Amino acid sequence: MLDQLTQQPADALLAIIKLFNADARQDKIDLGVGVYRTADGATPVFRAIKAAEKRLWETQDSKGYLGLVGDEGFVTRLMPYVFGADHPADGRIAGMQTPGGTGAVRLGAAIAKAAGATRMLIGTPSWPNHAQILGDLDLEMVGFNHANTDGSADMDAIRSALRSANAGDAILLHGCCHNPTGVDYTPAEWDEIAALIAQRGVLPLVDVAYQGLGNGMAEDRLGLKAVMAHCDEVLVAYSCDKNFGVYRDRVGAFYVVGKNADDTNRAMSNAFALARASWSMPPDHGGAAIRIILEDEALTADWLAEVEEMRDRINAVRAKLAEAVKAGSVDLTPLARQNGMFATLPVSPEQVKQLREEHGVYMAGSGRINVAGLTTNNIPKFIHALADVTG
Ligand code: LMR
Repeated sequence: MLDQLTQQPADALLAIIKLFNADARQDKIDLGVGVYRTADGATPVFRAIKAAEKRLWETQDSKGYLGLVGDEGFVTRLMPYVFGADHPADGRIAGMQTPGGTGAVRLGAAIAKAAGATRMLIGTPSWPNHAQILGDLDLEMVGFNHANTDGSADMDAIRSALRSANAGDAILLHGCCHNPTGVDYTPAEWDEIAALIAQRGVLPLVDVAYQGLGNGMAEDRLGLKAVMAHCDEVLVAYSCDKNFGVYRDRVGAFYVVGKNADDTNRAMSNAFALARASWSMPPDHGGAAIRIILEDEALTADWLAEVEEMRDRINAVRAKLAEAVKAGSVDLTPLARQNGMFATLPVSPEQVKQLREEHGVYMAGSGRINVAGLTTNNIPKFIHALADVTG
């Protein structure tokens, strides 16, 4: 029977990790998978996570099951960051821990489908796994162009996509730090989009995977805040993998905002059933460590300082690239106006291959770069390589 299966290609993004590791060149540059790097190119465990893990090791006396919701303290302590300290506390919001943001996106899309959606609107390009998840769930993906070439959001495209949407469609939005373009909506744009979503009766699923890495924890929540202000039903997929640096621990959360507590509880019962049938209960370790941080003022302050250090470094790299203005035919100035770890450069797959093979510069085939892979030391080499292949 197994001989009936068709060979699947390796995940293109994850394949870059292997290619990079196999390259013996000392001055190679990894701009592939979305992992934060310090100015020394390292991805260290956060100080606050180390301290929390120590405390967890000292105090945890059982590894018995926690249940479908995962670590409840983690889920509730995260809410003021996701929704703001003034979020409604009338039972309209409930959540659960998920295996990474991916688990939460999957749950959100599955809930939208279970609630009757057959189509999901999504700005393209998007994180490639979004399309894979929607395809796997048999949800029709209705793409619209996300960004203009000048680095602004393509508002005409989203307006017309929403105007031709049907009530009962869903839309997947990146809450902040758009992956792969770095192009976020301005507060005024968010407001307009959220009003249109509400007017058209479309269900928003907001994917928040990089909170804090754009303009600040509160600033990066403004998009979701606008959606909440206009729409009485919202699904949220949240990832802690980047802003707590716990990538391999797979820490995420899924939240439902319903019209009322009854609707929310019913939606959550569906989310629990879907989770039970796929991963059952989420892995505990990373969520428990994050809960310990969020319960402790000093650890929380240290965590927020670490997020600020990351944000400042990413924005400094963006500014430095924009200062160069051009590399060959590539205009680097929009990078300073974009947010988060990613930018998509106008380079062809052939040029991406040339960058890798001739210069040891690794990036996604789409031309997406992980800005955090650049440092003051390797920026000149990167610009030179880019100029060489596009000039
Ligand atoms: C990325 O886009 O690089 C990250 O979200 C990692 C992943 O799982 O693709």
